[in-house]
Amino acid sequence: MNNFHYQTNELYCENISLTQIAQEVGTPTYVYSLAEIKERANSYQQTGSSERKTVCYAVKANQNPRILEILRDAGLGADVTSGGELFLALHAGIAPEKIIYSGVGKRRDEINMALDANIRALHVESAMELDVIAEIASERQQIVRIGVRVNPNISVETHPYMSTGETLHKFGVTPETAVSLLHTAREHPYLQPVAVAAHIGSQITDIVPFAASAQFLTNMAEELASSGIHLNYIDVGGGLGIDYQSPTSSPQIVDWVTAVSTPVHQAGFDIVMEPGRSIIAPTGMLLTQVEYLKIQGKKPFLIVDAGMNDLLRPTLYKAYHPIMRVQQSEADLIDYDIVGPICETGDTFAQKRQLPATKAGDLLAIGQAGAYGYAMSSNYNGRLRPAEVLVDGDQYTIIRQRQSYEHLLDGIS
Ligand code: LLP
Repeated sequence: MNNFHYQTNELYCENISLTQIAQEVGTPTYVYSLAEIKERANSYQQTGSSERKTVCYAVKANQNPRILEILRDAGLGADVTSGGELFLALHAGIAPEKIIYSGVGKRRDEINMALDANIRALHVESAMELDVIAEIASERQQIVRIGVRVNPNISVETHPYMSTGETLHKFGVTPETAVSLLHTAREHPYLQPVAVAAHIGSQITDIVPFAASAQFLTNMAEELASSGIHLNYIDVGGGLGIDYQSPTSSPQIVDWVTAVSTPVHQAGFDIVMEPGRSIIAPTGMLLTQVEYLKIQGKKPFLIVDAGMNDLLRPTLYKAYHPIMRVQQSEADLIDYDIVGPICETGDTFAQKRQLPATKAGDLLAIGQAGAYGYAMSSNYNGRLRPAEVLVDGDQYTIIRQRQSYEHLLDGIS
């Protein structure tokens, strides 16, 4: 189902025209489709056994509290990576037994916060971290469930910043260390080994390495069982990519869930998965207005009112996002560089992107922007973070107000 579509030459989100949203809320604004969010969450929830699977949405992809509530209602849990994300997951009413905490640098206060909430497990990423958790668990005389994040040394095709599962990366521990840490946990009066986990990277569109990683973890869990450590679940991480160039060719969530669950369930373990992008990226667009047309030499620039502070991905990863006119046009096609107002050459959404001739005041929509969009926004260049709008049929709600200039003084004494 495509919840962003043209109707009488106008781009709509469900039954609301993006022109109407721009007029009433202003630009730049992130616009999300509720139907699309529910549909994608349900693809994860409804594939395969629901009792033996927990889908822990990776909060880092989009942490809007209203979106977290929608995902909670769809039955999802949360994968958190900081005290802030844990706060937001709990605030959204996600049950602690559906929350897992991954991350290489958990501070003591964050560990205490996770123990206060009694979440499902802490996923440990180093021997030193396990020592700190053990110390805190002993002080508090509280049983702590421990998963260990393993680095399965599987290389994947993605941007180098998004590959995480090889030994050269900071994430996880080697399989040998993982086994030794789980044994250490078993010997400790307050630690309980419950899981092995891996996350091989993000924006990976080939399902094969995920299946290999799931099989690898399953083999490890079976070997551990033969040495007396009976784990409760296997966490296969997230990372399923989408096709930004041709969204309809994206890999199917059901195929991924089936591929990773099969080895895990066959061996009799429960599964946890941590998807972010594949749920939320296609549900959102960044709506922006063209401020100026500028011809530099022979090169036409469209200068829009969104910048790299609103959507960093093209700047940081040279990531491709589809860009379309909100009002369709039959005008001649022109190759534009589409850039923001920020004082950085890298503040560029696209180079030589073909669009029908466009003028100041026209609206553009940057697609597939629901994940790692608002979540990575900033106030760089004194710019205000954009508004976020959720569309439900022919209604919309502002789920986050645009910042005002006073926000730039937050916390200043
Ligand atoms: N679990 C862990 C431990 C992770 O580190 C991540 C993402 C996920 C799950 C969710 O991965 P996903 O299903 O969304 O691929 N800023 C980059 C993406 C960085 C992903 C970091 N970790 C981007 O804009 O593409």
